[in-house]
Order: sequence, then structure tokens, then C-alpha cells
Amino acid sequence: MTIKKVLAIETSCDETSAAVIENGNHQLSNVVASQIKSHQRFGGVVPEVASRHHVEQMTLVMEEALKQAGVSYEDLDAVAVTEGPGLVGALLIGVNAAKAVAYAHQLPLIPVNHIIGHIYANQLVQPLKFPLLALVVSGGHTELVYIEAPGHYEIIGETRDDAAGEAYDKVGRVLGVPYPGGKHIDEMAHKGKDTYHFPRAMLQDESNDFSFSGLKSSFINTVHNAKQKGEKLDPNDLAASFQAAVIEVLVKKTIRCAKEQPVKQIVLAGGVAANKGLRTALKEAVEQELQDTELLIPPLSLCGDNAAMIGAAAFVESIKTDQIDLTLNAQPGLTI
Ligand code: KG4
Ligand code: ZN
Repeated sequence: MTIKKVLAIETSCDETSAAVIENGNHQLSNVVASQIKSHQRFGGVVPEVASRHHVEQMTLVMEEALKQAGVSYEDLDAVAVTEGPGLVGALLIGVNAAKAVAYAHQLPLIPVNHIIGHIYANQLVQPLKFPLLALVVSGGHTELVYIEAPGHYEIIGETRDDAAGEAYDKVGRVLGVPYPGGKHIDEMAHKGKDTYHFPRAMLQDESNDFSFSGLKSSFINTVHNAKQKGEKLDPNDLAASFQAAVIEVLVKKTIRCAKEQPVKQIVLAGGVAANKGLRTALKEAVEQELQDTELLIPPLSLCGDNAAMIGAAAFVESIKTDQIDLTLNAQPGLTI
């Protein structure tokens, strides 16, 4: 199937997004309506609230994406949508909107995996070269994905408990910063020093897996013990110490994997890819240790959830589909 212009839809969590993508690498539009303010007072995403917002925003966001791209439904060749993983109620809003557009305009419907979408966000900046190694770090996922060729994914390492972003958000809650805490902890970390030397979990382990729940417990215990003793700890030093532990494990394991199984590119992806410390540390490590490997880091606008990345990935996924399958359903636990 040859497709040129795709309308892409993403509603897996707390952003309602629609984008028009041309040839898998060019953004004609990428509209993102964030619901963060509605969830902040609960300290996290409330699934029912997320679904309601998606229902309210979906049509407006799609229309705005088409308007900004300067195209109409007749100009489209396909509709792409995140089928999973994510919150089932949230995913269903996007899936049903995509089905309605596909049915009404007789367009092929391309289901896209959210994680693959995060990886393909990089294709909107630079062509991907294979084999590549992707470090996917988001609120729900921490994975090292080896991609031998387009469409051939192998998870070679993953978190055994919390995702990196989830740990950031939990630590943020302890330090009293607004949800989601990642961005705030990142900013605080740059004003502090790694003085607490939190554990670097599984760093020496032979597997490529990660673990962040021990680090999170260690952080919480340090804060609680100090509180009980009436001691005041510097929140910036706490943030810097937490961030140093996360980054060291992510970067060292990624470099080690790329040395064991050489790749043309290392690709950073997901919401935590916005982390300034991680971006710098990975860049330095690749420059020093893997001179022949290219490092791709998405711009901040493409790190968090957005539909442009789903549109980019759709061009790979489209090879597998050539029909409108209106039985498509949300897959909350979808794996690669
Ligand atoms: O990919 P994403 O938008 O949603 C999921 O698919 O999960 O990732 C959201 C996660 C949140 O946990 C958020 O705190 C984290 O990305 N995040 C950051 C930064 N910006 C966003 N974590 C660390 N440093 C940042 N600068
Ligand atoms: Zn995401």
C-alpha cells in the first residue's frame, strides 16, 4: 500500500493529539491538547477524567490538525491511531474517532504501537538507519529495543518494576512539586549536587534490565528519616542525587548494549528523553565511547506524547495492512 498523507491520532494517556504527516518524515501539523492541569490536583492521571477530556477535545483537535496542515479529508491516504499500550478508556476515544474517519472517507486504518511511535518520532528529524538501538524512557516504559530493520523489534532490556518517568513522578510528589514531577526534578537537579549517592540498581548485573523501585524507596527513606530527626535536607541535592543515579544506569547500560551488538544509531525516545541531564550524559558517552555510532535525540516537542510520532510510525506499520479493519479495538497491554 502506498500512502502519502496520513491523519494520525494519539489518546493513550493525558494528551489529545492529532497530526498530519507526509511521507513518514514531514510534519504538516501536530496539535497537542494537554490535560495536565485537570489531573494536577489529584497528583496523577485519573483515567475517567482523561477519557472525558478526550471526548470533548477529539473532534476539535482533528479539525485543527487538518486546518493547520492546509488539507481536507479528501487529501488523506490513511488514518493512523495508537491502539496501545495505554489507558483503555482513553485509547478507545482515539480508536473510535479514527474508525469513524476511516469509514466515512473510506480510508485505510493503521493501528500503531505507542512505543514504536516514540521511537519513530526521531524520523521526523533525521532518517533512521538500521540496525539501531532505542532507549525508550517514558512514564509507563523503560526499554532497550534493538531494531534490526524496519518492523523487526526486539526488547533486549526493560524495567522489572517502575518506569523511569514513574520514579521521577513519585519522587516529585515526595518533594512537593506539581505533577508530572520529571521536568521539575530535572530543573532542581541542575541546581544541586549528587551528595546522597543513591543505589545504582542492577548496574553490575549481566542482564540489560533496569530497576527503579529500590532507588525510589531509598530516596523516600532518606527524606523520612531526616524528617523524623528534624533535619532539613537540600531538595536540589536530593533531586541531583536521584537524577545522577537514574542517568548513570540508563547511559551505562545503553552504551554496553551498543558495544555488544553494534548499531548504526542510538535513538533516545519518550517523555524522559526531554531530561537535560540524560541528553547531555548520553551525548558525551556516545562521543567518547562509540565514535562510529550516530546519536538521535528528538526535539522537546516530540519527546512527550504527540500524534506526529504515530503518523511517522504508521508508514512502517502500513506495510502490514491494506484494508479498513473496523473491528480494531484498544489494546491497553500491547507489547512490541
Ligand atoms: O512519553 P510520555 O509523555 O508519556 C508516557 O507515554 O508515559 O512520558 C511522560 C513522562 C512523565 O513521567 C514525566 O515526568 C516525564 O516523562 N518527563 C521527564 C521530563 N519531562 C517529562 N522526566 C525527567 N525529566 C524531564 N525533563
Ligand atoms: Zn508516551
